Amino acid sequence: MSTDKTNQSWGGRFSEPVDAFVARFTASVSFDRRLYRHDIMGSVAHATMLAQVGVLTEAERDTIVEGLSTIQAEIEAGEFDWRTDLEDVHMNIEARLTDRIGVTGKKLHTGRSRNDQVATDIRLWLRDEIDTILAEITRLQEGLLTLAEREAGTLMPGFTHLQTAQPVTFGHHLLAWFEMLSRDYERLVDCRKRTNRMPLGSAALAGTTYPIDREATCALLGFEAVSGNSLDGVSDRDFAIEFCAVASLAMMHLSRFSEELVLWTSAQFQFIDLPDRFCTGSSIMPQKKNPDVPELVRGKSGRVFGALMGLLTLMKGQPLAYNKDNQEDKEPLFDAADTLRDSLRAFADMVPAIKPRPDVMREAALRGFSTATDLADYLVRRGLPFRDCHEIVGHAVKYGVDTGKDLAEMSLEELRQFSAHIDGDVFEVLTLEGSVNARDHVGGTAPAQVMAAVIRGRSLIAQR
Ligand code: ARG
Repeated sequence: MSTDKTNQSWGGRFSEPVDAFVARFTASVSFDRRLYRHDIMGSVAHATMLAQVGVLTEAERDTIVEGLSTIQAEIEAGEFDWRTDLEDVHMNIEARLTDRIGVTGKKLHTGRSRNDQVATDIRLWLRDEIDTILAEITRLQEGLLTLAEREAGTLMPGFTHLQTAQPVTFGHHLLAWFEMLSRDYERLVDCRKRTNRMPLGSAALAGTTYPIDREATCALLGFEAVSGNSLDGVSDRDFAIEFCAVASLAMMHLSRFSEELVLWTSAQFQFIDLPDRFCTGSSIMPQKKNPDVPELVRGKSGRVFGALMGLLTLMKGQPLAYNKDNQEDKEPLFDAADTLRDSLRAFADMVPAIKPRPDVMREAALRGFSTATDLADYLVRRGLPFRDCHEIVGHAVKYGVDTGKDLAEMSLEELRQFSAHIDGDVFEVLTLEGSVNARDHVGGTAPAQVMAAVIRGRSLIAQR
């Protein structure tokens, strides 16, 4: 595209047009046009405030506001001609406004700079994204609660080192994910507070000579407060970095959850089935049903961690105030938000459709001496020191390995070889049910505790 007609905005200072490649290289409209709605929202508020303080007439304000709303309709109808030579979303919209309404359009930018404009736009945009993401977290958590309630008494092996450790209930296991998501939710709510501050009015960097009323604009845009320093207002992107950090933690959680789903659907575990609609097949191996959704989510976590590193690196060397470097904040931020939102959405759709296989889980829990700690605890209740009990049970397990018997499968005489303190009532604690029921305290795996945790979870969600 020719650059001749380019950029009236700073034409006065320049004696030759911008190089055509440089124009493309420096343009951001291909990706920042996504901010159009928030850009227009910010401009409407700015024009409204300018009229309130007498910098624009009411008639000028009306013309501007009406012009901007037609432009929004044009964009949404796909009829807007985005021009790379106009560099970014802000100048595209402003130029189109002047096209449509004439000279009044040129007054919109009074007391404002693209520096505070773009900082405002991203914050408005991110605030909306955060709200959508919060709703998806809640939806996923509701799915987990429903499933946990249904599976409160389903027995499975709990693992440490991915080796069978102690029996747990499937409901309890699912609620571990609920807890992590609750913390992700809290972090996001907190990040939203710092995102929801208004830099508009900082202008290029030092503020503006017009008698602007920042509190008025702030109220119109629903920001919680105005930024307290104009230099910081235009240059700071820590809210975006914070969002990526929060998003990284959430993706890390989803990635771990994914890993479990991948394991559990494998032929070796077979703990659960995922419905076909969340899986795909193989073009060569007819038997395959691959857990693509969790695998992709696990893989996509990398993009979000990358966005976090990218933004930290982007900011670390920047002197105050605005630098063009900041134009590079958008793509990682957009991608992180899209990735987290879509991953949560996929999980929120998929989790309620998980089909557990209680028989397989139970069978797996019966292998691997998962009630060995329960036998040790039983002996402690008989008055022996825990370390001695640990050793006694160790011998029993070794005998079990040699004879191919689980603890619960041994006769009383067999068990009594290891300690005369063992009596007939030992079998109550050696069952899976006995084991989980005994862990009956807040945060424990007993089915009754799972039900209590589901109730707590529901009331937590109800308070949002
Ligand atoms: N497209 C720019 C960005 O995203 C807008 C601000 C440009 N400001 C400037 N002085 N060149 O950061």
